[in-house]
Amino acid sequence: MKSASIEIRGCNSKEELVEVVELCDSAFPKTNREYFERHVLKDKTLDKNDTRVLLINGKIVSSVQVFPRTIFVQKEKIQIGGIGNVATLPAERGKGYAGLLLKDSLDYIIKKGYSLSMLTTSINPYYAKFGFQTVLRTIAAINCNEGKNHKEISRFDKNNDLKDVINIYNGFNSGKIGTIVRDEKYWLSQFEFCDENKDLFLVYRSKDGIIGFIRAQRKDNYISVLEYASKDNNALVFANLIEELSFITGINDFRFFLTKDEEKIIGKYSFSLKDEKDFMICFLDNNLSVQIKNELLKDRNLNFWQSDFF
Ligand SMILES: CC(C)(COP(=O)(O)OP(=O)(O)OC[C@H]1O[C@@H](n2cnc3c(N)ncnc32)[C@H](O)[C@@H]1OP(=O)(O)O)[C@@H](O)C(=O)NCCC(=O)NCCS
Repeated sequence: MKSASIEIRGCNSKEELVEVVELCDSAFPKTNREYFERHVLKDKTLDKNDTRVLLINGKIVSSVQVFPRTIFVQKEKIQIGGIGNVATLPAERGKGYAGLLLKDSLDYIIKKGYSLSMLTTSINPYYAKFGFQTVLRTIAAINCNEGKNHKEISRFDKNNDLKDVINIYNGFNSGKIGTIVRDEKYWLSQFEFCDENKDLFLVYRSKDGIIGFIRAQRKDNYISVLEYASKDNNALVFANLIEELSFITGINDFRFFLTKDEEKIIGKYSFSLKDEKDFMICFLDNNLSVQIKNELLKDRNLNFWQSDFF
């Protein structure tokens, strides 16, 4: 019998990207196809080559996407290759294909000169075999008692508010650990791939302009806060944005990732914390300082907004 020919490379056409959407759609039964269309086809930060595929006799059976990103680590900006949409067709599993493709993707990230890779997963032991380490994050849950309408708060308007929101974002996030460095191209692309409820992107206006914003997504019985930011870490602005979200949605329960440093922004609310171990990092640059590695690995220190999810 003729042995199968294995080819590993980046996608080279729109048709191949659509094939990857179909592959992911069949590999992840609980996720809608629409999710993969956003992350494979609508993310303008990606080059075709960043969607890595393994083909057997010319047919794509396995995929891994490499998302080019830059993160803040205190004063430094570090280039990373985020990994997502790791998938193998159900009939082709257990033959080492995803493993081969992951190794290729890590080599690809190294060749690009990026310092590390990140991913989220529920199968941590699998990725540990490739050098990924689990990072502990925590999800905070708060109940805001009742919603309130605040006249200073209104929906984000892309045409008028983007520049101010970018300024607030940069002021709030530079200096943190793990937040994404976003230029305007990234912001515009993110509006296409991010799974947010557009009516829950709210801005807080003062006489001096926008001083805070929040982005969120409705879940069955709670609101998932994807990200927030305010000028000078303003706890009152955060509280008012939460009350407004509750007023709009009729839901009082909120969940969001919270680092130890950010607890002060919760202000008047009491909160409960739950550990989350879905985030993993693989260091790929021997010159990366021990201090940066430690900051990224420290418990409840890394801040990765859900709106940046890949
Ligand atoms: C995970 C997946 C990509 C692996 O593809 P594959 O080509 O079969 O991978 P490999 O042959 O290289 O490795 C198979 C390994 O994955 C492990 N694995 C697969 N699914 C797993 C799961 N849900 N939980 C734990 N381990 C799992 C297998 O136990 C096996 O481990 P081993 O190498 O120690 O034997 C494939 O099962 C898949 O598409 N799953 C659905 C989508 C998914 O969950 N993707 C990962 C998102 S983080």
